Amino acid sequence: MHPFDNIVIRNNADLQRDITQGRNIAHSRSITTRMMGLIDANGQGNVHGGVIMHMVDEAAAIVAIKHSQCSRVVTARVETFDFLAPAFIGDVVSIPCEIQYVGRTSMEIGVKVLAENPRTGEIRHVASSKVIYVALDENGKPMPVPPLVPANEEEQKIIERARNHRLYRQRINEELKQAEEGQE
Ligand SMILES: CC(C)(COP(=O)(O)OP(=O)(O)OC[C@H]1O[C@@H](n2cnc3c(N)ncnc32)[C@H](O)[C@@H]1OP(=O)(O)O)[C@@H](O)C(=O)NCCC(=O)NCCS
Repeated sequence: MHPFDNIVIRNNADLQRDITQGRNIAHSRSITTRMMGLIDANGQGNVHGGVIMHMVDEAAAIVAIKHSQCSRVVTARVETFDFLAPAFIGDVVSIPCEIQYVGRTSMEIGVKVLAENPRTGEIRHVASSKVIYVALDENGKPMPVPPLVPANEEEQKIIERARNHRLYRQRINEELKQAEEGQE
């Protein structure tokens, strides 16, 4: 059997998904960690931004897969991506991610990127990002995901902040669209 056939069979295995069953933020929280090597960096030893972005996409997708129990999630939008400090060869980069908002089929994941010098223990906050994923069914169409139900007050605040941010973004997008239409 072709190895890819095995992957398809495993990913399509019958899984009882109960999308009415809400899940909290802690359920899917995840940390991805890797030490930066030569191929990750430029001649000065600084890690490429693209390497960090790739790691963020992978790390955040894990959270979306865990929340939705759907292995087919696609990146719909990189909402924000701010590089705050450099990472260097030899640093241990860790990427804690958590789900912060859920629509019908989309999931917004908040991401932090930290770089630790493992000799000194110095930790730098390298980047922050918010990425939106959409769960797809076997026909490649968006499919509903379980609601996000806060487990406590702290989670409630995270969800509330993300909801406000989303409403604010929608308002800005509408205003920009109107302004562009006005210029035509
Ligand atoms: C993302 C994608 C599946 C959306 O498909 P679509 O036909 O536009 O689907 P819909 O309009 O029904 O939107 C589905 C959900 O995605 C959200 N969405 C779609 N495009 C979005 C965008 N650019 N930004 C934020 N959310 C978006 C919608 O708000 C909706 O969310 P909700 O169900 O929670 O309300 C489709 O555009 C796509 O396949 N894009 C390519 C994805 C890809 O290849 N990514 C890179 C590699 S993984």
